[in-house]
Amino acid sequence: MTPHPLASEEPQPDPHVIVIFGGTGDLARRKILPGLFHLYLAGLMPERFHIIGVVRPPAEGSDDDFRQRVRDAVTEFGDGAPSGEAWERFIASVSAVAADATHSEALVSAVETAEKELGSGARRLYHLAVPPDATLELIAMLGATGLNENARVICEKPFGVDLASAKVLNETIRANFHETQVFRIDHFLGKESIDNILALRFANRLFEPLWNRDHICFVQIDVPESITVAGRGAFYEETGAFRDMVVSHLFQVMGYLAMEQPTSFEANPLRDEIHKVFQTTRPLDVANVVRGQYEGYRSEPGVAPDSNTETFVALRVDIDNTRWKGVPFYLRTGKGMAQRRQVITIGFEETVMRLFPLARGAHAWQGNRLVVDFDDPGSIHAHFLAKEPGPVMQLGEATMSFYYKDSFRHAHRLEAYEHLILEAMLGNRALFTRSDGIERLWEVAAPLLDDPPPVEPYPLGSWGPSSMERVVAPHGWCLP
Ligand code: BG6
Repeated sequence: MTPHPLASEEPQPDPHVIVIFGGTGDLARRKILPGLFHLYLAGLMPERFHIIGVVRPPAEGSDDDFRQRVRDAVTEFGDGAPSGEAWERFIASVSAVAADATHSEALVSAVETAEKELGSGARRLYHLAVPPDATLELIAMLGATGLNENARVICEKPFGVDLASAKVLNETIRANFHETQVFRIDHFLGKESIDNILALRFANRLFEPLWNRDHICFVQIDVPESITVAGRGAFYEETGAFRDMVVSHLFQVMGYLAMEQPTSFEANPLRDEIHKVFQTTRPLDVANVVRGQYEGYRSEPGVAPDSNTETFVALRVDIDNTRWKGVPFYLRTGKGMAQRRQVITIGFEETVMRLFPLARGAHAWQGNRLVVDFDDPGSIHAHFLAKEPGPVMQLGEATMSFYYKDSFRHAHRLEAYEHLILEAMLGNRALFTRSDGIERLWEVAAPLLDDPPPVEPYPLGSWGPSSMERVVAPHGWCLP
């Protein structure tokens, strides 16, 4: 496929000092460090840049140790091998410093030195890849030391654990940064197939006129994961599947699916439309929520033997606006499930006049579905009914499919984190979440947080507790 003629030129960010707090953490190792090297290989890093990995004292923060970590991270999780000229140039721009919220002198001087070396026009980008309590302290430190000047900051979820804590976090951010400097990252919004929802809907008359309650009978956002909490027991105990996945990721995907057409894809108009969706999202009805816990979770390290934390959640969400009134949005996610999938299914109403009898037990929406598989590299499938060859008018299910991996220039693909870090360097907040949206989502979540139903056990490798069928009635889960 050739690029669309309106495709814009690839952007080049200003010179940057990039500071990664949590430089030795899991997120840096898996995503951020390999991602920065891939951006470099793709020619999307600034012409002049310096990366500072922050390690927590008493660790020393030696450059050599940190560079070795970067090499290991790229070897294990990166796209390109850490060798050759490009690697040598990249790694020469990486250093480390030992600092935290109370020991910031070395960091201030490292940032200033790096800035001088880069010359005029250099910006600062902080990536706070740290737990929530550390985020608060670091934000305050960046403000107190003046490191907040000429800077942008990427904040990681969770953005609070409820409305009150989200407000505290937002107030702390507001006291130290202007909102235009803040990039709250939800990496699902950096996935190609999620951004493509905007193209699918708003560039194609084939779909958008049908995208409403007159034609759609349900929307499902289904993100089962086969991994267990795998070493993250202590984190999961505090978080649970609902906060970890639904408030952070699935609600945002719902926003893209449900929003009205923005006047442009600039940050303000785009996020205004998403916010309107959240404002019209009805606070959850606990009767429409099933919480599950995989068998064996309570024996995971860091998990209480009588834990009531959910590793699975299935829920129905309602959006009370003209476009969606009465159309259920079914959301499901869990750990230790049968498969890893990331799938949106749009179920369509049957035709007004039914000329063709449905097969016994079949539902109209089974034949008429649009399925967006948004796990990288992503695909889209339109399921429709077609006449089977032969003398009788008999219908069978047919599918039209689009696969990202076979289309366009797949080599240009950016992983979600890479895409979002690039957008942050460019100062484009369109794909980042907004404080008012997050606060509204905690309001929507409040009935469930206040009065969670008991967790129901499910076997590892299953699709969840059987009562999840109740949530999705009269429809059914489209997976498996
Ligand atoms: C993270 C969650 O934000 O997203 C994890 O904390 C989850 O629990 C992960 O596994 C899923 O992301 P990805 O990149 O695998 O789609």
